[in-house]
This record gives sequence, C-alpha cells and structure tokens, in this order.
Amino acid sequence: EKGGFKHFMLKEIFEQPRTTADTIKGFISREYTLPVSLNEFRRVLITACGTSYHAGLVAKYWIEKYAKVPVEVVYASELRYSDNPINEKDLVLAISQSGETADTRFSALAAKEKGAFLVSVVNVVGSALDRESDYTLYTHAGPEIGVAATKTFTAQLAALYCLAVSQSPEREQLMAKLLSVTSLMEEILSRAEDIRKIALSYSSAKNMLYLGRYLSYPIALEGALKLKEISYIHAEGYPAGEMKHGPIALIDEKMPVFVIAPRDRTYEKILSNVEEVLARKGNVIAIGFEGDEHLRQKAKDVISIPHVEEDLSPFLTVIPTQLFAYYIADFLGLDVDQPRNLAKTVTVE
Ligand code: F6R
Repeated sequence: EKGGFKHFMLKEIFEQPRTTADTIKGFISREYTLPVSLNEFRRVLITACGTSYHAGLVAKYWIEKYAKVPVEVVYASELRYSDNPINEKDLVLAISQSGETADTRFSALAAKEKGAFLVSVVNVVGSALDRESDYTLYTHAGPEIGVAATKTFTAQLAALYCLAVSQSPEREQLMAKLLSVTSLMEEILSRAEDIRKIALSYSSAKNMLYLGRYLSYPIALEGALKLKEISYIHAEGYPAGEMKHGPIALIDEKMPVFVIAPRDRTYEKILSNVEEVLARKGNVIAIGFEGDEHLRQKAKDVISIPHVEEDLSPFLTVIPTQLFAYYIADFLGLDVDQPRNLAKTVTVE
C-alpha cells in the first residue's frame, strides 16, 4: 500500500504533482458554481490550524493581489474567543484537510451564525465542515495517512489559487500556468537524492531557524513545523525581515539557518538577511533558483529549484522542506508516519 516507498509520508510527498493537478482539474470542472465572488465582500477572513493555517497565509497574498479584497488570517483557536466583528459583509474561508478539526469547525460555525458566508476547503467529502458550509472547495489529494500534512498542503494551495484568480480577466492564462507547475514539482522530486544528502549533514542540529519573505514566509513556517513534528528538532519559522528584531541574537555556528530565496520581489532583501546571518557565523542552507550564483557564493548548501513565476513559488519551495524534514527523521530512526504525541485529526478544542 506504500507503493514501494518506505513510509506513507514519502509516498505522499511524491504524489504531489498528481494530487495538485487533480485538485486544479476538479476546480475547473466546477468553477462557475461558486455562488459569490470574493470582491462582493468587505474582507475575507481565513481561519484554520497548523499546516492549513499556513496555506491560508499564502492565500492571503494571492487573494489580495487578484481579488483585491483585504484578507485576515486568524488561528481558529484564537478566532473563537476573540471579539472579531464578523457580519454578513464577510466571507469566512475555513481550511481543513480533515474537515473535522474542532477549533476550525466551531469558529467557522460561529462566524456563519453572525451572518458571514462560509466557504470551506476540505479534503474529506462529507466531513462535518463540508456539510456545515455554504460552499465547499475540494482538494483532490486522496486519503493522507502520514500524520504530517504534505500533499494536502499543496492541494490546498492549488484550490486557493484557483479561488483567488477565479474572477480575474487573465484567469485562463493563470490557470494554464498553474497546471504547468506540476511538471516543475516533478523535476524537484527527481532530485530527492541530492536533498537527502544535504539533509543528513544537518541531522545533529538541535535548533534551526527558517526564514522567508512574502510568499516564502508561510513556507518557512511550514518547513519549521514539519521539522519539529517528525524529527523533534526545535525549529522556528520567521519572516526574514523580523530577524533583526530579536531572533538574530540566537545565531551562532551551531544553529543552521534555512533560507527560502526564490527570485521574487523580495530577493535582494533576503540576500541581505543571508549576509546578516553570515556575519554572525551562522551556516546557511538555502532554496534558490537554478543558476543563482549569488546564493551559491554565500550559502553553505543550496537546494536548486526550477525557475517559476513569482506567484507559484510556494508549490516548489515547500517540497525541499518536506523532504529535508523527512530524511532527517528517517535517518534518526523516528516513526515518521506516526510521530509521538500527535493525532491526524484533532477533534478536541
Ligand atoms: C501538520 C498537521 C497539522 C494539521 C492541523 C489541521 O503537519 O498535520 O498541523 O494541519 O491539525 O488539521 P486539518 O487541516 O485537518 O484541520
């Protein structure tokens, strides 16, 4: 059932080109059924937990760019007990792989009760959240067995991108580009062995910092979460620009810094952040575009990804972070598919 892979997590990482494509095709086949358009609302309020929350952070940038509506992203467990003024002018977007996460369901239901239009993104058809929502976008990732979310994250990104561009005049071209990103995902997976070798040289780290800006900031959070969950190595994700406001104090030769640096609008800035790390004797492992010599001169290790449109970089940058965490956890002999203390679905608050 693991299809020749050592763990479900690794199998699921490798399934991503297909599950991403399936999700996009699923959206295309129903795209005209969404009964509202995002820009009818005064804001979009996204709520979710864990990895799904990170997908929401990426979606914020896409929705603000294409639908031009302000987007707020709030942890479901925090939204629930806040006085966030929600009303019928809000579209609430609840993201949950399982569709059963208690915090996400209850805050979504409370928002619906206050008059918000509730759209959800779920992977499990017929789940509680699916039934409770005014409209559901499905991720067609298939069952995810590994406790650490991987293929459902990229499927969520796909569904959310489709939603963000659904009213754009350039929708057709944007969707075509989105579909073509799946073959670039394939290219990265074909170089998994290179990533494994790099990962193993970091397996004795006790702490790691993950940095990114703009669309790579949520990927830094997600990469750090994966490492914590399955390898039990302490890792923090941070927006790179915030490093100098505190975390820079932690940097020394013993704490590797994982920098996500595709060539986007923030590239020059993140290169300066890399310099700041080097000046404190930190070791940098970076994800960058193929042929990026600047990065190669500075970083100790570089994981290359194919060039991609700025918008779509999260589909590519997240894969090396998943593999990095996986290979370290496996090398340490840990139970990758069922990490200690974690449940796949959290139905308690
Ligand atoms: C991380 C992970 C969790 C879930 C979170 C939300 O790898 O799996 O952080 O993302 O528990 O679960 P869903 O998406 O089912 O609501």
